Amino acid sequence: MAAADRFYIATPIFYVNDVPHIGHAYTEVAADVLARWHRQSGVDTWSLTGTDEHGQKILRTAVANGVTPQEWADKLVESAWKPLLDTIDIANDDFIRTTEPRHEKVVQQFLQKLYDTGFITEGEYEGYYCVGCEEYKQADDLVPGAGEFVGQQVCAIHGRPIEVLKEKNYFFALSTFQQKLLDLYESQPDFIQPPSLRNEIMSFVRRGLDDLSISRQSFDWGVRIPWDDSHVTYVWFDALLNYISAIGWGSDDENFSRRWPAVQLVGKDIARFHAVIWPAMLMAADLQPPARVFGHGWLLVGGEKMSKSKLTGIAPHQITDVFGSDAFRYYFMSAINFGQDGSFSWEDLAARYQAELANGFGNLASRVIAMVGKYCDGVVPASGEATDAERGIQKTVADAVVAAQRAIDTFAIHDAIAAVWTIVDELNGYITLQEPWKVAKDPALEERLHTILYTAAEGLRALAVLLSPVTPQAAQKLWVALGAEGALGGLREQSIPSAGTWGQLPAGTQTQPLEALFPRIEAE
Ligand code: MSP
Repeated sequence: MAAADRFYIATPIFYVNDVPHIGHAYTEVAADVLARWHRQSGVDTWSLTGTDEHGQKILRTAVANGVTPQEWADKLVESAWKPLLDTIDIANDDFIRTTEPRHEKVVQQFLQKLYDTGFITEGEYEGYYCVGCEEYKQADDLVPGAGEFVGQQVCAIHGRPIEVLKEKNYFFALSTFQQKLLDLYESQPDFIQPPSLRNEIMSFVRRGLDDLSISRQSFDWGVRIPWDDSHVTYVWFDALLNYISAIGWGSDDENFSRRWPAVQLVGKDIARFHAVIWPAMLMAADLQPPARVFGHGWLLVGGEKMSKSKLTGIAPHQITDVFGSDAFRYYFMSAINFGQDGSFSWEDLAARYQAELANGFGNLASRVIAMVGKYCDGVVPASGEATDAERGIQKTVADAVVAAQRAIDTFAIHDAIAAVWTIVDELNGYITLQEPWKVAKDPALEERLHTILYTAAEGLRALAVLLSPVTPQAAQKLWVALGAEGALGGLREQSIPSAGTWGQLPAGTQTQPLEALFPRIEAE
């Protein structure tokens, strides 16, 4: 289990056969919100993302485009995958590519270790093979043939008969880990989350596990098996190792033990690889399993998993070009219960942008800063005596911090945002009720006016700190406008656990004008 004072989170590494869509960006943003939250809580944090570049899928795409797989991967990484991180404002600590020597070296070292200890053995793989696909097929990938192939089973994609092929492969003794895996799931009930996924994986493992073929001879785009260079490593076995190659397993023991184990955030479609194969690989090498495997849901378009191949892919920049990266992050993290599927629609995004970000949070910030400007020459006033109304706001802020932290601990990012949003709603209600613009008209009520404006400005301070992991740009602008000192997100005194401590914005602070945090968007 990870210690509470450190947090290592990794996203899956992304296939570079194509450019990213918003489903990929969704995984990235969730991991980034969790990483920023922990970093801002004074926890020793490390966040990793990267690209998965070997295997047949990439090889074929490269061949179809008349370039080498390495050239293809280089092009996609530089033109699409790294730029994605800027588009959606990801503050990752490292980016790993499986074609980097630091990774390939670890794959070979790890394989050799398992081979030497008897967890990898030679065997023969017998299966249905489609030459068109260059791929082993399962029975349910096949359909009855038509025309000249009537009476035979054919590949569903190519419509041609499959062959029974025997290939010499190396196998990882996955079957021997069945009980150890079940023990792990039992002893650590939050190892796989959410619970529905845990149940699914547990019943899958209870049905028994086959050994895993971990090498291929039919193509050569992969990491060579160290003791037999006529084989390359199966792409998943290679890819999973990125989580330890990136933090120095086998070369930098100190860093490795400082970081490992990781929280693995993955789409539910690839949870089995992470919750079954990956811990078994680690156990075979005498390493700790991951801290947790959290499987998030899918972004759906028209009720189906959004994908480029089905032409339902939306590029992240299509959204950020119009709404900005903060809105992208806020929308996907707040509108979808993390762990469940969620449907994306432009109408829903536009409506929430207007109601929650522009009218709710943005307008609150602008109004308060403008009133401090107008009534107090831009200087944060000292608060007079607090009434129940002010004590109510103080309590809302303190409670929100506790509730949000509790939600983050269970990866309920949407609940954490909802908790923080109670401050937005309460502050808006407070200002409407207290009517500072009326109080300002009576010089005898100056102290009361100052109390109201101090309360509102101090509430915004807490909001800037708490929203920084989700909407980092707006939070930073607000921070600067409040004249608050220090870089937001960097300083320990602006840490999330202490955000609820009332009175941190000093009276006398000079505020700065604030441009609209979420400008009006003209409907197209
Ligand atoms: N390369 C493997 C992962 C190897 S990790 C050792 C892979 N790559 S992927 O590019 O296909 O997918 C990466 C992630 O994007 C997965 O977590 C996947 O669930 C996520 N998504 C892809 N489409 C998605 C949606 N429509 N919605 C949400 N996430 C989805 O798998």
